[in-house]
Amino acid sequence: MSIPEQYLQALLEISGEINSIQDPDELLNRILDIALQQLSAERGFILLKSDEGLLPRAAKNIDPEKISDISEISSTAIETVIEKKQALLTFDTAENEELDGAPSIMLNKISSIACVPLLLKGRLIGVIYIDSQSHTAKLNHQSLKFMNAFANQAAIALENSRLLENLRQENNILKEEFHRIYAFKEIVGKSKSMSQVFSMVGKVLNNISTVLLTGETGTGKELFARAIHYNGLRHDRPFVAVNCAAIPEKLIESELYGYKKGAFTGAVTDKKGLIESADGGTIFLDEIAEIPPALQVKLLRFLQEKEIQPVGSNQPVNVDVRVIAATNLDLELEVQEGRFREDLYYRLQVIPIHIPPLRERRSDIPLLAQHFLNKYSEATGKHFLGFTETAMDQLVEYPWPGNIRQFENVIERAVVMATQSFITEEDIILRRKGKAQGIEAGMTMDEMQRILLEKTLQALDGNKTHAANTLGVSLSWVHYKCREWGIR
Ligand SMILES: Nc1ncnc2c1ncn2[C@@H]1O[C@H](COP(=O)(O)OP(=O)(O)O)[C@@H](O)[C@H]1O
Ligand SMILES: [Mg+2]
Repeated sequence: MSIPEQYLQALLEISGEINSIQDPDELLNRILDIALQQLSAERGFILLKSDEGLLPRAAKNIDPEKISDISEISSTAIETVIEKKQALLTFDTAENEELDGAPSIMLNKISSIACVPLLLKGRLIGVIYIDSQSHTAKLNHQSLKFMNAFANQAAIALENSRLLENLRQENNILKEEFHRIYAFKEIVGKSKSMSQVFSMVGKVLNNISTVLLTGETGTGKELFARAIHYNGLRHDRPFVAVNCAAIPEKLIESELYGYKKGAFTGAVTDKKGLIESADGGTIFLDEIAEIPPALQVKLLRFLQEKEIQPVGSNQPVNVDVRVIAATNLDLELEVQEGRFREDLYYRLQVIPIHIPPLRERRSDIPLLAQHFLNKYSEATGKHFLGFTETAMDQLVEYPWPGNIRQFENVIERAVVMATQSFITEEDIILRRKGKAQGIEAGMTMDEMQRILLEKTLQALDGNKTHAANTLGVSLSWVHYKCREWGIR
């Protein structure tokens, strides 16, 4: 008996259609729809093999929970198909001897059933079950042939979608792995103290505890904060970095917490704060010591209760944000001297990670030198064989007050200046103590600012208010920089 024209046409259309669907659940539903439609049947479901056995994955007009209930459907029919790996059709259930006396069929007066195995190279991967209570269903021997051909198509499409899904998952894992290696590859350091930092950082990736990063300026605090976020649980959610020292005191609260329309002049609409915009992700509070005392109380509340209140609102907003804070000041000293709240200090330093200054891990210097040499050679298209011995000695011995930021600038400049195949000591410009302090090429902005601040204070007998006015900066900036740079 051959398959009638009408079914062949349908098969052709179906194979094109189901092969274009990649989502496994969408595909299953489509397969079931097509089968029901072609056979004019009203209900059915698909079972698919999983580790836990055959489980219902798609159902039409049957409660998936009732599929295992023998009074609702013909479990006898399904069992037969699974056992024999052969399609089963009955258009008058009462007459089929294989199903003789099956209670479910009797109970529900099911008039016809089509049940076909989904086979892949002879292996059973699932079952399509369709039944009908009316006599209008086109369940006959021809439709069974159709169902067999159709089930073959469906099995291949399902297998393809499964393989694709596996590939997708594998790809995601590889991407993550790549990301992980990549992010940490950017952070250079093999010294004992840096290994300890890496091991601490490794421990905070899979939780959301508050982390306090301490260390001098330029030691890599922000780099680590980003690495923690992008290698942690929340890597696909936002990372929001806030430099608390860079926002004027009056604006910090509204920046962090947001505000309601009309909260103050100029607040013409509601505005989300930075904390809320980091919801689900991480907020990096850099230079945390610069948070004004009044706001320290609010910050403590946010850390404890996980809620914030925008300026001008009395409605607290729940936020789920991981906090990573950083400071280059000695927070304990700030607490002792009454500038930083003790309770906030303890709440912040749940996990303190201290990044040592470069001069305390000189063994990292050759590695860092090579790292930045590669980076800037690539950027400038120049090619070097390395550093001369004297050049490297110079780099290793220098006290690096500006840490890695300064180090990087020195190497960048050397790469630009160098004309030979090795970077020589002439290419490396370091500011030596005791030398006349002036502004020179090769200096960082930080160093330049420091010299300017020192000179201004000297000229003004150490009066910080006058120095702030002369420099056109805020008094708190002067206080802050004096503490940071240890200027008396
Ligand atoms: N261990 C490191 N390896 C490579 N680059 C680093 C390392 N630490 C810091 N850097 C680089 O030095 C610069 C300063 O780092 P940053 O994280 O901004 O320091 P901080 O926040 O402590 O002032 C950045 O350009 C950063 O990429
Ligand atoms: Mg920084």
